[in-house]
Amino acid sequence: MRLTREEENILNGKKGDGQKKAMELLVAIGEINDAERLIPIASAQVSGVSYKTIGEAGIEFLEDWASMGAKVSVTTTLNPMGVDLEQWEEMGYSEAFVKKQKRIIRAYERMGILPSCTCTPYLIGNLPSLGEHIGWAESSSIVFANSVLGARTNRESGISALASAVIGRTPYYGLHLEENRRATFSVEIKTELNNQADYSAMGYYVGKNNEGIPLFKNAKPSLEEMKALGAALGTGSISMFHFGGITPESKNQKAKEKVEFGKQELKEVYEKLNTASKADVVCVGCPHCTIKEILEIDKLHPTKKVWVFTCKQNRELLKNKIKNENIKIISDTCMVVSPLEELGVRSIATNSAKCAFYSRNLSKLGVKFDRLENLLR
Ligand code: F3S
Repeated sequence: MRLTREEENILNGKKGDGQKKAMELLVAIGEINDAERLIPIASAQVSGVSYKTIGEAGIEFLEDWASMGAKVSVTTTLNPMGVDLEQWEEMGYSEAFVKKQKRIIRAYERMGILPSCTCTPYLIGNLPSLGEHIGWAESSSIVFANSVLGARTNRESGISALASAVIGRTPYYGLHLEENRRATFSVEIKTELNNQADYSAMGYYVGKNNEGIPLFKNAKPSLEEMKALGAALGTGSISMFHFGGITPESKNQKAKEKVEFGKQELKEVYEKLNTASKADVVCVGCPHCTIKEILEIDKLHPTKKVWVFTCKQNRELLKNKIKNENIKIISDTCMVVSPLEELGVRSIATNSAKCAFYSRNLSKLGVKFDRLENLLR
C-alpha cells in the first residue's frame, strides 16, 4: 500500500505508540484487501463496548491502547454498552458487571470518545452525508449508512473502526469504491409488508440466503422499516441494499439475478424465529427506537411489560412524558449486548429479526417474534 510521508512517520512511531498501533492495523487490513492507499474519513462508529461481548481480554486491550496515548481524530460515537448506568441498580444488574463496564467506558473516554452508546448514531448527530467516507462498525448502522444515507463504509470490526478513528483514515477498498456499490441481485416483493416485523423478516430471509447487494422493488418502506430491514440483512453478510425509488443510489440500478419474497417466505421466517410461546418481557428497539417508534408504542397502550431501548437523548426527552407503567425506557444498552440472563430473564418477545436471532444464539433465550401490536396486548 502507498503511504504518504506523514503516514510513514506514524507507522514508524514518530507520533507515539498509540498512533503507531492504529496505523499498523490499518496497513495490515489494507494490504490483505489490496487497498492502494488510505483515504480520510468523516466519522467513526465503534463497536465492542459491552463487557458481555468483549470480556476481560477486551478491557485489557482497550486500557493498554489508551495508555499508549491513542486519541481519536474524527467524530467518534460508541455502540451500546451492557447496562443503562442510570438504572442498573433498580433493574438488578450486579455491581461486578457494572464495575467492568465502567472501566470500558473510561478507556474509551481516555481516547477522546464521548459515551454516546447507541447503534443509531445517525439520530444523535453522527450523520454522514451522501458520498462521504466513514469507518463504522456494527452491522445495522453500517447497512443504514451505506444504503439509506449513501455514505461509504466497509463492515469494520470494533478494532478497525477504532484504528480508523485514531488515524482519521481507512483503507480504500470494498464499498468505498463506486463500482462495488452496484446491485448484484434484485428482490421482487410479492407479498404485502405492513410493519417493521415484516420488513425485518424479509431482511433476515434475504440476508441468510444471499450475498452481495440487493435491489428491493415494489414497496414503500418508512425510515423505521428500512432501519429494521438493514439490521436483519446484516445478520448475514450483506452490508448495503438499494430500494427502488427510495434510497439515494437506487437510480439506474439493474440486476440480472432475481429473488422472490412472497407469503410463503414470510411465513417461514416467522415460524423459524419463534422458539417460545410466552415471554418474560417484550423488548423493542433493535436497532434503537426513534422518537416516533416510542410514541407509537405508547399509543398502543401496552398491557404487557415492555422494555424500550433507545439512545440517551430520546430517553431524556420522553421519560417523563410516557405515563404507561408497563413501558420502561432504557438507554445506552440493548437487549442483545446486555446480560438479561443475570436478571432472570429466560425468554423475550420482539419485533426485530436481528434481536430474535442473536437472543437465541448468543444469549440462549427463548424468543417470540411477532408484529408489535400482537406483542403488546
Ligand atoms: Fe443495536 Fe443491539 Fe440490535 S446494538 S442493532 S439494538 S443488537
